[in-house]
Amino acid sequence: MAARAVSVLITGANRGLGLEMVKQMVEASRPVGKLFACCREPDGPRAEALQTLAKKHPDVIVVVRLDATDLCSIQLCAKQVGSVVGTGGLNLLINNAGMLVKGTLQETTTEDMQNTFNTNVVGPMNIIKEFLPHLRAAAKASGMPGMSSSKAAVVSMASFLGSMANVKESYVILPVVSYRVSKAGLHMLTLCAAEELKTDEILFSLIYPGWVRTEMGGDEGEIDAPDSVKGMLSVMASLTEKQNGAFLSYQGSTLPW
Ligand SMILES: NC(=O)c1ccc[n+]([C@@H]2O[C@H](COP(=O)([O-])OP(=O)(O)OC[C@H]3O[C@@H](n4cnc5c(N)ncnc54)[C@H](OP(=O)(O)O)[C@@H]3O)[C@@H](O)[C@H]2O)c1
Repeated sequence: MAARAVSVLITGANRGLGLEMVKQMVEASRPVGKLFACCREPDGPRAEALQTLAKKHPDVIVVVRLDATDLCSIQLCAKQVGSVVGTGGLNLLINNAGMLVKGTLQETTTEDMQNTFNTNVVGPMNIIKEFLPHLRAAAKASGMPGMSSSKAAVVSMASFLGSMANVKESYVILPVVSYRVSKAGLHMLTLCAAEELKTDEILFSLIYPGWVRTEMGGDEGEIDAPDSVKGMLSVMASLTEKQNGAFLSYQGSTLPW
């Protein structure tokens, strides 16, 4: 990263893209200062790889419980982060946690839609709201003009499948209705936040990681997590106020809504 973010928080950091982000951020030549790696069950079997990494970097990685669908856990996490970062605030928040349920419109149930919407939209909304004081503190503490991910930023994992422009071409291949609707909602949430909080100089951007071979992306994905994350971290480092409210690919190009 160009100007390094001192403190970073990543949700869904126990596997897939989230875990790879943690890995690359702590192993970088200029690693982050504090990395809050959040997951639903820090002591469960799905967090073993993250805990092993955290033991290797005890001064940097702080593993914190956060379930995107549980407001109490978000509030507790925000409190814990606040007690560590203090008036320096939180520079970069990455809304990475997400879920996908397969299904056409006719197969999708109310429960599928509600669960997916709660995780992919309501979660990021509550996370933004609860961490706002720490993001504002970081913006204030930076003393730098403009916007950047080393000052105060929220980056959310977007999807090509949430883009209205591509439905005709992509629907037959991937008819994941609840996921598509939720990601379109996340895209709108990001635009609203970018507009509402621009005077606070907090940057909001969406990055599409590509079709990545993770549990969610499956074996047929086009790229591996290390390549996707390498690209995304480079894009994050280059963000300025010009990309406030932008929808970008992991290679930095602007994508159609
Ligand atoms: N892979 C792709 O091709 C692709 C493409 C476009 C966008 N994305 C987006 O990129 C992000 C990461 O995807 P991925 O491929 O790494 O997926 P993944 O391998 O399925 O990992 C999803 C992560 O989200 C966590 N998570 C799910 N529900 C959660 C909740 N309620 N609270 C907290 N954490 C929760 C999971 O934790 P548990 O282990 O506890 O389940 C896991 O850490 C997602 O937002 C996804 O939509 C991925």
